Amino acid sequence: MTERLQHKPYTDPRSGEVVPMSPDDFGTTYSKYYQSENNDSPDQSRRHLIERLIIGIETLISEKRADDAKITILDIGAGRQILENELQHHPRFSTIAEYVSIFTLDIANISAYQLLAKNTAHVTADGSQLPFANRSFDIVYSSMAIDFMPKQAAFGEVRRVLKENGKMFVNFHHPDLAESELRNLSTLYQKRRDQINTLEQIRRHGQKSSKFVQRIAKHQSDLQETRDLIYSIETFFGQIFPELIFHTTDDIINFLQSQFPQAWISVEEFTNLKGINGWFTADIHFDQQNGSEETEAA
Ligand SMILES: C[S@@+](CC[C@H](N)C(=O)[O-])C[C@H]1O[C@@H](n2cnc3c(N)ncnc32)[C@H](O)[C@@H]1O
Repeated sequence: MTERLQHKPYTDPRSGEVVPMSPDDFGTTYSKYYQSENNDSPDQSRRHLIERLIIGIETLISEKRADDAKITILDIGAGRQILENELQHHPRFSTIAEYVSIFTLDIANISAYQLLAKNTAHVTADGSQLPFANRSFDIVYSSMAIDFMPKQAAFGEVRRVLKENGKMFVNFHHPDLAESELRNLSTLYQKRRDQINTLEQIRRHGQKSSKFVQRIAKHQSDLQETRDLIYSIETFFGQIFPELIFHTTDDIINFLQSQFPQAWISVEEFTNLKGINGWFTADIHFDQQNGSEETEAA
């Protein structure tokens, strides 16, 4: 994220919820990011989500009748489909592959050639305004993405597109991530000081060099890149990120219970892992006995 971020609050037109960065700004930022990167989530958290997802799919397969249609699954904020690529390489995927149809969605512009998984349907859209009919999916999941969206609208949409007895698997960002990014700033501040000193030296002593103008331009551009990176980290991880994410498991439980009062909800926190940022998980199961009808979005 080296381009400058705009800290423009955004109000969701339907729920009135205010979030510190709009879906469009996320789209712009991630469209650039994915030109060079293929994912933006800790590997361990993604693997953990894949394990839960596979169990969810296997359970649905065991419950389905032989003549049932395929199990439809949707990843919200899928990025370049790193998770689906890893899912398709999982040793247990071969036994479930024929029963599953995979859909992925992201607001970033991601070209077909950038997508990493096979035999999937990908759509560019806002996760808080899903372009799918009511009750289209058996499972909706999201890895480090749905907490970047206006949450009430996004979770309302999930409930709308999920079937009555659908399941949801989510990984959420953890405050650890911002702390570790902000700690890295001290290295960048030192780099900025060094680059400013080098520029000064060239300005003072390098004027006789035939490449003076090019050297100045190159060092100015390197310095600007460092300044932009510092600005992005300070703005995103210092200001925007803490306002977007959940900070405790209680925050998540309270939010999910208010959205889905009849659902079965399980929330866990993973933290203090060696050198790894933490994450939160939430698994939400809807079923007919729980009468989840009442919570369906209008
Ligand atoms: C931290 S990345 C995670 C990407 C991917 N799930 C992974 O595990 O690598 C967050 C993703 O959410 C997407 N995103 C953010 N806001 C969105 C929105 N309103 N609708 C759809 N996708 C969104 C971003 O474009 C980005 O791909």
